[in-house]
Amino acid sequence: MGQPLSVSRLSARGFRNLGQLSLSPGARFNVIHGDNGQGKSNLLEAIHYLAALRSFRGAATAELIAEDEDRAELIAQVRGHAAPRDYRVRLTRGSSRQVRMDGKRPRSTADYVSSFQVVLFHPGDMQLVSGSPELRRGFLDRILEQYDPVYGSSLAAYQKALRSRNRLLKADRPDRAAIVAFDELLASAGAVVGQARERLIGELSPLVVKAFEDISGEGLPLRLAYAPRVVPEVDTLRRTLAESLDKDLARGFTADGPHADDLTFALAGSRAKHFGSQGQHRAIVLAMKVAELYELEQRTGRVPILLLDDVSSELDRARNRRLFALLSELGGQVFLTTTHPEFILLDRDRVDYRVEDGKLTQS
Ligand SMILES: Nc1ncnc2c1ncn2[C@@H]1O[C@H](COP(=O)(O)OP(=O)(O)O)[C@@H](O)[C@H]1O
Ligand SMILES: [Mg+2]
Repeated sequence: MGQPLSVSRLSARGFRNLGQLSLSPGARFNVIHGDNGQGKSNLLEAIHYLAALRSFRGAATAELIAEDEDRAELIAQVRGHAAPRDYRVRLTRGSSRQVRMDGKRPRSTADYVSSFQVVLFHPGDMQLVSGSPELRRGFLDRILEQYDPVYGSSLAAYQKALRSRNRLLKADRPDRAAIVAFDELLASAGAVVGQARERLIGELSPLVVKAFEDISGEGLPLRLAYAPRVVPEVDTLRRTLAESLDKDLARGFTADGPHADDLTFALAGSRAKHFGSQGQHRAIVLAMKVAELYELEQRTGRVPILLLDDVSSELDRARNRRLFALLSELGGQVFLTTTHPEFILLDRDRVDYRVEDGKLTQS
């Protein structure tokens, strides 16, 4: 088993409603309870932001800074690397974000993000199997970004080029030469993205299948498959972009490429998206999160920090019990939020916090 990553000290100032906050979390289970709207998710969002440099609720910087403040600061001391590390983020209204690792500016966002692994599970993830393909691409991308900085840079370059190309496609009098000038970059970065996703799905498959059996208690054969819009080879991507130019001009956006990829699930041979029960969907989602954790551990040699936002309320008692049994085996640091701490079926290695109006007290 890898070395567990853990936040040994966390401070926040001016982030959402958290005021001035400073805590030394437990190395295993940290249970954060409180009524709705008190700041439980905000606390997880702070930890997640420090690791991923974005809000898991899609919030813009202005929304993350406390309403009556001009800036927010987050600091985490993290153990699990060769030496303890210090991660800092400063958000300032109307100004760019400042990020520091051990006091130094990281070479790139991709570099920073691939050094601090967290696995997040929140109620929105319940749509992973049944919701839009964008959620499943995001799931794959977040895993890859967390261990491969080259992937993070390639994806960022691809998305930037795609936005530019789409903007040109929408122009009143589109400039064809300017549009096709992006095709080479889209083909090369797109091939990196598509091939990495394909390889990842191959690695995740057996892990998801095993975790699904453990969680659901069902022997139904589950299969994962990569469903690319275009085969992720540079030549094929380049040719498809060229051939689709007229259609893209008519539509006003680029139709083909890894931005239209999907990940599909088959349960006993049928598409789970259409046939699985809600209980099966949830078990698959949980299995995907467990697989994400194992994959990151195998790739980085570190057990990621697990953030579970109000997940117990989404699962029945039997699945909750299996989930917590599994978490106890995994051995890393866990932060979980709940309105009902008595539903958290853990009795060892547990620290409880209460949140009220953004203030945290150990209880
Ligand atoms: N930028 C902000 N400044 C001040 N308060 C905020 C900000 N963003 C959100 N909040 C407050 O945070 C609270 C919601 O916190 P949240 O962590 O989502 O609650 P929960 O405990 O239900 O998870 C709300 O009361 C909201 O008004
Ligand atoms: Mg919440």
